[in-house]
Amino acid sequence: MPASFSCGDGGVEMTRGSDGRLAGTIALVTGASRGLGRAVALAYAREGADLVLVARRPEPLEQVRDEVQAVGARAVVVTADVGDPDDVERVAAAALTAFDRVDVLVNNASELGPMLAAGRGSVINVSSDAGVVGYPGWGAYGVSKAGLDQMTRIWASELDGSGVRVNTVDPGDMATEMHAAALPDDDPAGLARPEDRTEVFVRLAAGDGDSGERLEAAQFAAAQT
Ligand SMILES: NC(=O)c1ccc[n+]([C@@H]2O[C@H](COP(=O)([O-])OP(=O)(O)OC[C@H]3O[C@@H](n4cnc5c(N)ncnc54)[C@H](OP(=O)(O)O)[C@@H]3O)[C@@H](O)[C@H]2O)c1
Repeated sequence: MPASFSCGDGGVEMTRGSDGRLAGTIALVTGASRGLGRAVALAYAREGADLVLVARRPEPLEQVRDEVQAVGARAVVVTADVGDPDDVERVAAAALTAFDRVDVLVNNASELGPMLAAGRGSVINVSSDAGVVGYPGWGAYGVSKAGLDQMTRIWASELDGSGVRVNTVDPGDMATEMHAAALPDDDPAGLARPEDRTEVFVRLAAGDGDSGERLEAAQFAAAQT
């Protein structure tokens, strides 16, 4: 699948003040066009971050770009399949071309890695309780999330002292397209909204916390209220 790179009309916009928890931060969010990725991108924008937004289909991604620009963020869109190594290279190159660096990487759809050269950064891998609970029929998903949790611990050890922190976040059940497809009998009204699960992502991006941890977003959401 070809990747493409585009900026908003007139290129990257420069419009915002500097008092948020993520002012001056460049965040790359994969799977940013809907669900949790969109909610995290919007939360980051409100806290002052600028964004690289990644997903496969351009139209919904461009809508999110418009939304984050509306709250003052600079944002670029990269349409890419994160399962394709060539696309991943293109995402990294596009991010560095647009902003020169990436401070925070949210692997909401999958994985990447352009931060070591800067000697600082926060990688946030999105996990699931399916990585620790044996849900029948969810073998590949559960094994991939368990592997992601363990890979995160290994990366944290390998990156100890580098300035780059790596953590996983289990967002918990949320009313998203993915959840509706996986569990169509669940009532969305009884589920959390992705917007309610973004606080831990903001804190990790802002530099809070150690490296190599597996965090549950619901605990941070509860602590907020
Ligand atoms: N929803 C829940 O209840 C729940 C619970 C536990 C964990 N999680 C985790 O939370 C994360 C987000 O889930 P969600 O519910 O927000 O999902 P979602 O609503 O289905 O959104 C998925 C996002 O990822 C993009 N995407 C999917 N495959 C991609 C690929 N190969 N390359 C690039 N982008 C891709 C989609 O856009 P395109 O289709 O245009 O690419 C979309 O932006 C996932 O890691 C999931 O495992 C969710």
